Amino acid sequence: MGNIILIGFMGSGKSSVGRYMHRKGYAFIDTDSYIEKKEKRKIKEIFATDGEAYFRSCETRALEEIIAEGKDDFVIAVGGGLVMTPANQPLLHKLGKVVYLRATVDTLLSRLKDDSNRPLLQGGTMREKIETLMEQREATYKKVADLVVDTDNRSFEHIYRIIKKHI
Ligand code: S3P
Repeated sequence: MGNIILIGFMGSGKSSVGRYMHRKGYAFIDTDSYIEKKEKRKIKEIFATDGEAYFRSCETRALEEIIAEGKDDFVIAVGGGLVMTPANQPLLHKLGKVVYLRATVDTLLSRLKDDSNRPLLQGGTMREKIETLMEQREATYKKVADLVVDTDNRSFEHIYRIIKKHI
């Protein structure tokens, strides 16, 4: 299939780049929004009521459903932790080309510092939380990616052009 999958840390710009590409004519799906619609509640509530493991099962189900629907030429932004479920990795490759939107911890921190909607970043020091999670995830983001795009100080247009050129 000819989809483009955007992966990367929370705050790396997956949804923003996806929405930008939507304005350029791509159909767009965001797995977080997809799950919220199916579950009829916010991610925050899913984590609080049913826990992270349940949310991860929703992510795998969302990928399976999107594959079954036979989407083509879509941009699909996935939640920052979705790639960490090993079973999801072959599903991503089945779905399309995987693009890792990379950002430095400083950039992520500046974008996420006032956020209260991401359960994994609440409580404690935000910088430490980002650093710890990033350490656990970075190698997987790189391993799963067909293309890595640095996003710091780059406009959506610039990021879009890099993706178009290489995918
Ligand atoms: C998560 C990232 C979030 C959302 C959930 C868990 C993660 O999505 O899926 O809060 O584990 O990194 P974004 O990456 O779109 O913020």
